[in-house]
Amino acid sequence: MIEVRTMIYPGTFDPLTNGHLDIARRAVRLCDRLVVAVLINSAKQTAFSAAERADMVQIALQDLPAVHVVRFDGLLVDLYRREGACAVVRGLRSESDFRFEAEMAAANKLLLPAYETCLLPCRIDLAFTSSSIVREVASFGGDISGMVPAAIIGRIQGRFVGRRSQQKLEDD
Ligand code: COA
Repeated sequence: MIEVRTMIYPGTFDPLTNGHLDIARRAVRLCDRLVVAVLINSAKQTAFSAAERADMVQIALQDLPAVHVVRFDGLLVDLYRREGACAVVRGLRSESDFRFEAEMAAANKLLLPAYETCLLPCRIDLAFTSSSIVREVASFGGDISGMVPAAIIGRIQGRFVGRRSQQKLEDD
């Protein structure tokens, strides 16, 4: 039997950035199947629903047949078991990312001894890109074209144009 090596790239992706895209594109070369897992019930208040976030991930990665986009709720280790994964991949931008990732890796390993984490250093030019910066720039109508994949710019801007018009109506 041929072993299919599945890796999981989990995140909130609110929204997906070029940093996430770079990690996903590099991770797909390390496995046979990459499951990009969009967290449904984040403790964070998200700007986009889980369905919208997953759609944007799907659109940005649609040229890669080995990528499967799923939405997930609950523990990552349960998804890991269900998918028969061999590792979770996460991007590292900074020392603070490392601390968070090391804690998460250790906790998940306690929950599931077979759990492995693969940390990919992010591209230096994308080290300061984050979903919250994208949201902030978009909320002021700024140019997000260097931060997110071209194919999802319209969706992100659309969300904030609506919000700005609503805010303006309330302020007037
Ligand atoms: N490029 C750009 N930004 C990146 C990035 C990269 N390579 N990697 C992380 N980020 C940024 C995001 O832009 C986002 O920024 P923001 O805080 O400004 O919005 C932030 O880091 C969050 O990253 P994201 O990649 O969307 O994922 P996350 O950290 O929210 O994901 C889960 C966390 C889903 C992996 C984790 O919460 C989880 O596994 N939850 C399930 C419950 C569970 O099992 N818990 C036990 C774990 S111990």
